[in-house]
Amino acid sequence: MEHTKEDKYNELDKRHHEAELGGGPERIAKIHASGRKTARERINYLLDPETFVELDKLVVHRCHDFGMEKQKIPGDGIVTGYGKIDGRLVYVFAQDFSVFGGSLSRANADKILKVQELSMKMGAPLIGLNDSGGARIQEGVESLAGYADIFMQNVRASGVVPQISAILGPCAGGAVYSPALTDFIFMTKETSYMFVTGPDVIKTVTHEEVTKNELGGATTHNSKSGVAHFRAEDDQQAMMMIRELLSFLPSNNMEDPPVKPCTDSAHRTDDKLQQLVPDNPNKAYDIKEIIHSVVDDHNFFEVQPQYAKNIVIGFGRLNGKPVGFVANQPAALAGVLDIDGSVKAARFVRFCDAFNIPIITFTDVPGFLPGTDQEFGGIIKHGAKLIYAYAEATVPKINVITRKAYGGAYCVMSSKQLGGDVNYAYPTAEIAVMGPEGAVNILYRNKKNEEEKAKAVEDYREKFCTPYKAAGLGYIDEVIYPRHTRLKLIQALEMTENKRENSPPKKHGNLPL
Ligand code: HXC
Repeated sequence: MEHTKEDKYNELDKRHHEAELGGGPERIAKIHASGRKTARERINYLLDPETFVELDKLVVHRCHDFGMEKQKIPGDGIVTGYGKIDGRLVYVFAQDFSVFGGSLSRANADKILKVQELSMKMGAPLIGLNDSGGARIQEGVESLAGYADIFMQNVRASGVVPQISAILGPCAGGAVYSPALTDFIFMTKETSYMFVTGPDVIKTVTHEEVTKNELGGATTHNSKSGVAHFRAEDDQQAMMMIRELLSFLPSNNMEDPPVKPCTDSAHRTDDKLQQLVPDNPNKAYDIKEIIHSVVDDHNFFEVQPQYAKNIVIGFGRLNGKPVGFVANQPAALAGVLDIDGSVKAARFVRFCDAFNIPIITFTDVPGFLPGTDQEFGGIIKHGAKLIYAYAEATVPKINVITRKAYGGAYCVMSSKQLGGDVNYAYPTAEIAVMGPEGAVNILYRNKKNEEEKAKAVEDYREKFCTPYKAAGLGYIDEVIYPRHTRLKLIQALEMTENKRENSPPKKHGNLPL
């Protein structure tokens, strides 16, 4: 029988409809009942309206075992394609849990690989929306090979285009490693989890009893393990947060980050900052007050806010230009550097450097956290990561020492000697090998009585616990009034705008892992 054009168009309609229906209304209803959205709904929240272009909508799996040849759903459990966020090109894949639990088949992996390759070739970010039962059990090693191919592309793309992952449902076994290789992980409260081995296996092997949520939920990975960077209430909020994150990032490593028109005056001063650092050096204050004060429109987008709170990282804009902030937080553990804080900051510094985002550091750090936990845990190699990251970074590096910069921590935090381009200090800065009490105890251990020691502490404080020794040596470029911080940072950014610095040619360095 001859088919008319109309029949052929109807055939295409039918195929579109089948693909869009995924696993069918019942499974979609189950997803909704669990508090999640479908893959297509998520893409709609994520992208600018009507910009999504789907690829490989009619791809089907090629499995003939376990009766799979009779169950073929166009798209095969994943929606892939490209679209726009704030008018800029992005690539996206979204696992469709309604089709075989979003599990990864060979065909499904090939769809992800296609958008991974396109994102690199065209120089645009890739966003992965994960919600999957893991390897497609019916396909065996073909599925595992698919994962390994994806990992390979993740690594190739690292530092070339921003890679962002959202975990919006299950993510278990080796499937966690593709998100882990990307730059940022978002998780949703209550509806997402990530683990290498689940509660049942753990119970068998170690006899520990733990729920899925305790083991790998959003709170665990945002506050305990540091695996995730952002925790959202639900799918919709996660998509909004991804949009905001991307507004600070260039599309690839050859571009500068996008400049936003700025109506906030560069000359805006803040008298509150004059009073912020307490006279008593042992009293805490919130470093975020300085960051919120200096950024355009007081808009600071914090990364990993619940993890290693003794160091604060995140993005903001100064005179319209995106910058990354790294700041010791005197309000948490007195702002000490420890293992978690060092690793958190080091990874962020390296991300900023890879994507041409200048790094602004606020330093107020009494030193490294003492203790066997830290030493046995390898604070030496983890602290070294932060040194390595700062030293290696060739983007503009601007530092403001607000109070303590003691010992090794002075060196670590974007010091002049690690290549700081502009190093400021407040008049309240204390830059020395150690705090006065510690110094006097070592210098005069058995030589002075308590009264003499108290006097020596005072002398030391006056002589060394100031910015002036460092300023006298040129290690601090300028001692500034806190109220002028915003203008001073903007001036430094303008001065360093065309910075050119190359590292010696090498295959790659050997970051102390
Ligand atoms: C094929 C799968 C599947 C999988 C789920 N489904 N996981 N199909 N391969 N891996 C199917 C189910 O059969 C079911 O089909 C549908 O998806 C929904 O699953 P449910 O179990 O009904 O959903 P739910 O109760 O929400 O539980 C979700 C789940 C569970 C926790 C993810 O399905 C599960 O434990 N799946 C297996 C997980 C797993 O062990 N994967 C392999 C991990 S190893 P119907 O037709 O009934 O709707 C791995 C290695 C990767 O991933 C290595 C990389 C290096």
